[in-house]
Amino acid sequence: MILNTCEFLAMNNPLRAAMQRHLEARWFLREGGAMNGGRALEIGCGRGVGAGIIADRFQAAAVDAFDLDPRMIARAERRLAGRRNVKLWTGDATLIQADDATYDAVFDFGIIHHIPEWRAALAEVCRVLKPGGRFYAEEVLKAFILSPIWRRLLDHPLEDRFDHREFLDGLARAGFTVVAEKPLWNCFGWYIADKKA
Ligand SMILES: C[S@@+](CC[C@H](N)C(=O)[O-])C[C@H]1O[C@@H](n2cnc3c(N)ncnc32)[C@H](O)[C@@H]1O
Repeated sequence: MILNTCEFLAMNNPLRAAMQRHLEARWFLREGGAMNGGRALEIGCGRGVGAGIIADRFQAAAVDAFDLDPRMIARAERRLAGRRNVKLWTGDATLIQADDATYDAVFDFGIIHHIPEWRAALAEVCRVLKPGGRFYAEEVLKAFILSPIWRRLLDHPLEDRFDHREFLDGLARAGFTVVAEKPLWNCFGWYIADKKA
């Protein structure tokens, strides 16, 4: 599901970029380490801030990234122009355009809660990871999505959302072993999980 105007503005500003750089990426690096080479995928890449972080701070050799919303991909293309190791396309996380076992790591900066069939997205992430590959995910939980104020302001699927425990269960069912996890105020969850070898 693409973003409504309110969330589009919330995602396309310097504050969101600072949160990705200084909070989310920092925790991912501390708990999960850098890649130091290898091929990464970012699902729901938005305007491309995450793909730049993955290349620069996680030291991926190549970064593929896609988003359902062509407006986001147009922004990402402008931001990442000139980076020869980044490839962008418009696509859907429930049907990832990549062969099985392609990537060493997959990154999710807050997108799976936008997907009605979120378990299908987890299964796709697992499919495209190499055995032992790492999934870095930051997610928004149902207590936030279903709260009256955010329901009014934002546009999310409302059926079958997940809390922290349900997302952990989804990861296990998709074929991951969770390496690190952190719930924040029952509203957000940060996860690092490896595809079983
Ligand atoms: C909350 S925004 C996060 C954007 C970016 N990752 C960031 O952290 O700034 C969620 C993004 O997921 C994208 N999205 C929603 N459903 C998707 C799907 N099924 N496949 C790929 N991207 C999707 C939206 O277009 C949007 O750009």
